[in-house]
Amino acid sequence: MTELKPFPKGFLWGGATAANQCEGAYDVDGRGLANVDVVPIGKDRFSIIAGQKKMFDFEDGYFYPAKGSIDFYHHYKEDIALLGEMGFKTFRLSIAWSRIFPKGDELEPNEAGLQFYENVFKECHKYGIEPLVTITHFDCPMYLIEHYGGWRNREMITFYDRLVRTLFTRFKGLVKYWLTFNEINMILHAPFMGAGLYFEEGENVDQVKYQAAHHELVASALATKIAHEIDPENKVGCMLAAGQYYPNTCNPNDYWKAMQEDRENYFFIDVQARGEYPNYAKKKFERLGLDIEMAAEDLTLLKENTVDFVSFSYYSSRVASADPNLTDTTAGNIFASIKNPYLESSEWGWQIDPLGLRITLNQIWDRYQKPMFIVENGLGAVDTPDENGYVADDYRIDYLREHIKTMNAAINEDGVELLGYTTWGCIDLVSAGTGEMKKRYGFIYVDRDNEGNGTLKRSKKKSFDWYKKVIASNGTDID
Ligand code: BG6
Repeated sequence: MTELKPFPKGFLWGGATAANQCEGAYDVDGRGLANVDVVPIGKDRFSIIAGQKKMFDFEDGYFYPAKGSIDFYHHYKEDIALLGEMGFKTFRLSIAWSRIFPKGDELEPNEAGLQFYENVFKECHKYGIEPLVTITHFDCPMYLIEHYGGWRNREMITFYDRLVRTLFTRFKGLVKYWLTFNEINMILHAPFMGAGLYFEEGENVDQVKYQAAHHELVASALATKIAHEIDPENKVGCMLAAGQYYPNTCNPNDYWKAMQEDRENYFFIDVQARGEYPNYAKKKFERLGLDIEMAAEDLTLLKENTVDFVSFSYYSSRVASADPNLTDTTAGNIFASIKNPYLESSEWGWQIDPLGLRITLNQIWDRYQKPMFIVENGLGAVDTPDENGYVADDYRIDYLREHIKTMNAAINEDGVELLGYTTWGCIDLVSAGTGEMKKRYGFIYVDRDNEGNGTLKRSKKKSFDWYKKVIASNGTDID
């Protein structure tokens, strides 16, 4: 048996989902259309999520997986009961903005949307599960994109303010842990998905992205302020798509390149956790000739309302090289990286690096000294169920076990402060990157395929009982 020192008392073990990847019911109970609905599976997906190809509504000849997804909207009781059976301490889920404000700029919220989430949170508490709520997980009402241009427009801060006030007030006492924007750095790589940005021909793309980023950063600080005012018990976190860059060689130029790549991502968290634009970012804006409009009060708001904790997703480390001729890249979480010859890869080419998680935890801890929360980690794989829907997913167990070991070492050997761990896609759901159903992460198998066929029946995989045991032993029994 692998002997691990115990995780801290009260460690929040659980799993994570996002509204658009699991709820379905895209037009039910007054929900408005959102960017995430109109992103189809298939070859055009990436150019749409990157804001290069315009698709603002459903078009013939495409399949839109988020419309139905795994229909968590109508299965939430059954699903949360299964999470409860596994002993989850926390469940990360997100709010679909357009269920609460269908167009986004209304003055009054949609009661049916609020009621749905109230029911979900109450259901979690029935099993002693603490909800961990992402306010915005790649989610923006289409109306706000068409009429305001998404996050490029400062008005978005007003609409977000209204959204968060509504949520913090209505769910006071039901939700304590909040994340403002999922993987905020994705605005640079998947701007339509991350911020509702579509670029017109000839636009200065960097100017638009960083202006939109500023609006999100201000909105995030404002949300932190409002959360604390409404309920001092609230804990608000930022969220980074993390994964340390390694230099491809010990050539100083490679190290310098890796540092620059890391800064591109840490920039967002530097602002959210330290409350200031870092000098390297100001210099970069100067170099690129960007002029980011900021209101007089923005900088004070950022300074006075830093986050309570830093959360992140971790799937892999990344590699950087200063050599422009090095083109041997491999797929990763939205952005590709140079291939690391020391690592194995998943079926989707994402490289597997458990030690990279310990490295990332230490880097983030050294940089911010704020409590951390790993809110996504896991293996996307093809599962082959038997006739009862059972999957012997030892490969998933192995992946998670190795990451839990290094997470344990980071806590017990290095002394980082970690609040919890939610594995990605604890129940199978639609992939954000590819739109596929067959890229599965869950402990619970859902009978649905890439074309939307299937009974939606839920069944336990082998990893279900394994994770139950991990949680019950507070991470000491991971065999
Ligand atoms: C993160 C997202 O990027 O990675 C999730 O926050 C996403 O929404 C997850 O699903 C895994 O990526 P993918 O592309 O395998 O779904």
